[in-house]
Amino acid sequence: RHSSPCYPAMKPDRKKRVCVLGSGNWGTVIAKIVGSNSLHSELLQERVSMYVYEEELEDGRKLSEVINEHHENVKYLPGHKLPPNVVAVTDAAEAVRGADVLVFVLPRQFVRTLCATLVGQIKPTAVGVSLIKGFDSEDGPLDLVSNTIARYLKIRMCVLMGANNANEVAAEKVAETTIGCKDKRLVPLLKAIFQTDYLKVSVNDDVEAVEVCGALKNVVACAAGFVDGLELGSNAKAAVVRLGLLEMVRFVDSFYPGSRLGTFFQSCGVADLMTTCYGGQRDSRVAAAFAKSGKTLAELEEEMLGGKKLQARGAIGTRTAFEVNRFLKENKMEEQFPLLTAVHLAATGVAPPNAVLQCVRDAPDYTPMVRNLLVM
Ligand SMILES: NC(=O)c1ccc[n+]([C@@H]2O[C@H](COP(=O)([O-])OP(=O)(O)OC[C@H]3O[C@@H](n4cnc5c(N)ncnc54)[C@H](O)[C@@H]3O)[C@@H](O)[C@H]2O)c1
Repeated sequence: RHSSPCYPAMKPDRKKRVCVLGSGNWGTVIAKIVGSNSLHSELLQERVSMYVYEEELEDGRKLSEVINEHHENVKYLPGHKLPPNVVAVTDAAEAVRGADVLVFVLPRQFVRTLCATLVGQIKPTAVGVSLIKGFDSEDGPLDLVSNTIARYLKIRMCVLMGANNANEVAAEKVAETTIGCKDKRLVPLLKAIFQTDYLKVSVNDDVEAVEVCGALKNVVACAAGFVDGLELGSNAKAAVVRLGLLEMVRFVDSFYPGSRLGTFFQSCGVADLMTTCYGGQRDSRVAAAFAKSGKTLAELEEEMLGGKKLQARGAIGTRTAFEVNRFLKENKMEEQFPLLTAVHLAATGVAPPNAVLQCVRDAPDYTPMVRNLLVM
């Protein structure tokens, strides 16, 4: 475990309290990391609260009780023990009481409801870190999830995104991740919370680009999945993924000016894109089955991602493609993002999945755009 050796030791009462909001697959892995880092930290209080959306297990036991008795989230991360200082709390307001750092790691469709229950319950000095992938578009315009949380709770927000397959990180296989944070003073604290021997943290102040990478890569993963499903080969898949990366760069360049190209070379960029497109994850698997079988996406999500759990655990790429498409249409910019547009058209049955290949054939020369970004 790494911690900053030159950071002054804090008095116990000045140590920061961390609360993890979410207890799914990734949420539980993060609670395991934060809990273990907090056990002997100079910066962190030992007790870590984890907000658990209460569920009754098949044997009638309550998930939170099982977590607190057996230190294992048997539903979302079976086979991995949590440190005993991680305490499952089912009341969100109680979980955040006194917390200095709030780690948001739940599916984005539950964010607004959760935030609404937390209004007035948060320390005004608290800092939030969002690990949530996807955009928020419930008000109409496309927005970053971290902006929604900041608006509700009036706190500063950071983000953490990267090539982080939860089960691999749970097994302590080496990975990297990117934290987007504008305030350099928070870096030692954030590293104390998230960095371990097997999870290398890089901090980057290009916060919006970090978050957008995490949202758009799921759309590109759908395009990659279409190529897999149609068995069009690894060259075609690489061409589609490359084009997807360029459209991600163009999207950030168009809507978040001032962002840096270098951010795309961090874990949140090209590395997360690779693991999402090639690592057999939800979005690409569902998209491959869609292209191959001719079934609807809803049928496939139901079949492949587990019936009733659909709403919480469904693939998010096609939903993001829909939101991005609506936003591009409003800005009359669909033509500048042919691959992102083609994924939406294929997912909604307007075009066949192999439309993503036409995008490769018609792709413009992106060199001038990339050159402009490089000099920024
Ligand atoms: N799983 C990964 O490998 C991974 C990696 C990086 C980022 N992420 C992102 O992290 C976020 C959380 O993903 P996850 O894998 O921990 O979740 P998950 O899909 O495993 O679990 C769903 C969670 O939602 C909760 N839930 C269900 N209904 C709810 C409700 N009505 N209100 C509040 N919570 C409810 C469940 O209790 C569970 O904790 C997502 O945005 C995801 O994209 C996931």
